Amino acid sequence: NGIFTFDPGFTSTASCESKITYIDGEKGQLLHRGYSIEELASKSDYLEVCYLLLNGELPSAEQKAEFVSTVKNHTMVHEQIRNFFNGFRRDAHPMAIMCGVVGALSAFYHDSLDINDSTHRDVTAFRLIAKMPTIAAMCYKYGLGQPLMYPRNDLGYAENFLHMMFGNPCEDSEISPTLARAMDRIFILHADHEQNASTSTVRLAGSSGANPFACIAAGISALWGPAHGGANEAVLKMLEEIGDVSQIETFIAKAKDKNDPFKLMGFGHRVYKNYDPRATVMRESCHEVLAELGVNDPQLELAMKLEEIALNDPYFKEKKLFPNVDFYSGIILKAIGIPTSMFTVIFALSRTVGWIAHWNEMISNPYKIGRPRQLYTGETERSFVPVNERK
Ligand code: CMC
Repeated sequence: NGIFTFDPGFTSTASCESKITYIDGEKGQLLHRGYSIEELASKSDYLEVCYLLLNGELPSAEQKAEFVSTVKNHTMVHEQIRNFFNGFRRDAHPMAIMCGVVGALSAFYHDSLDINDSTHRDVTAFRLIAKMPTIAAMCYKYGLGQPLMYPRNDLGYAENFLHMMFGNPCEDSEISPTLARAMDRIFILHADHEQNASTSTVRLAGSSGANPFACIAAGISALWGPAHGGANEAVLKMLEEIGDVSQIETFIAKAKDKNDPFKLMGFGHRVYKNYDPRATVMRESCHEVLAELGVNDPQLELAMKLEEIALNDPYFKEKKLFPNVDFYSGIILKAIGIPTSMFTVIFALSRTVGWIAHWNEMISNPYKIGRPRQLYTGETERSFVPVNERK
């Protein structure tokens, strides 16, 4: 009827129907296909959660074994992709490399780009889930100047990722089961989160019929920003900047000051107006990992004190600003030995399945190209003035 609503930031506009993920922000509840994130994080594993997100049901033992084996068939990348890395500076941010390399996958795997063919879509889903850890680890190794590692299919998904990150061709890598489990849990906790900025970007790009590799590259770009996936990196930078418990009050005051752009990174969420359930699991996991490794991290103490002070501060209480998933993930990743610049890459790796599940859900149902409207606030129509007559 020509009437449209003005909703900057899409705070109250549903852009699609979806059966994948349910969030109740008031209750602090997150369900994937009906299963709570708490149960999935404690009883399942990442590849099983991938199956669930993509197929709607938990797999039988046989289906799970077949799914895992198919993922393993796709873990290597085309040899020429390895050469592709040489075009980047060694000191490039791994997310910059990730955007480029994942976008380039459509130049290598064009045998599965018919988006209307469900077999092609399935192959692409397997390829992306399988190759993201390989590419992510390659981004890291390239920056170090170390040999890019091949995947090992005898290892689990998270174990293999840690092997490609920290192993080298000269010796067998030993992967701690505790660290592999913590890594796997981080993957689960980031696997999907309904229509966040990057997933909406993937859907919007996909709505034009663009190929899925290009859509996922668009999602990675949207994820990079500090208000979204870049927050985990920003949390550690902030903790470094705060430096000491004695400085917390100064930074809390900065966060509350309207004239200061500083925000407490890892706090607040568009949808959760209660504790982010992922943060609760991540907090527990963080303590487990640090206890197991015997790490006494002063940054964790700083983080806990910051959390305590912020949670008791009237400003944060009134605005319902609670720690989100990224508040604790960085501390675990740091304890595992992952450098800060890789944090958002790991978020991208984990979220890939969510992006594909949403893209697939959209493509397999009737959809329209996404095309928001605007409120025009510029000049009204006026006459063109030739350059020599302009004042
Ligand atoms: N520190 C201080 N004040 C804050 C913060 C914060 N972290 N977050 C929100 N506020 C204030 C904000 O200034 C605003 O105040 P006012 O009502 O006076 O204008 C009010 O709280 C509402 O915030 P908003 O920015 O309008 O809320 P939003 O829904 O647009 O933004 C957010 C949500 C996550 C972008 C924001 O809270 C933020 O920037 N947080 C820090 C970055 C961060 O941790 N991001 C990770 C999100 S979770 C991982 C993911 O899913 O990507």
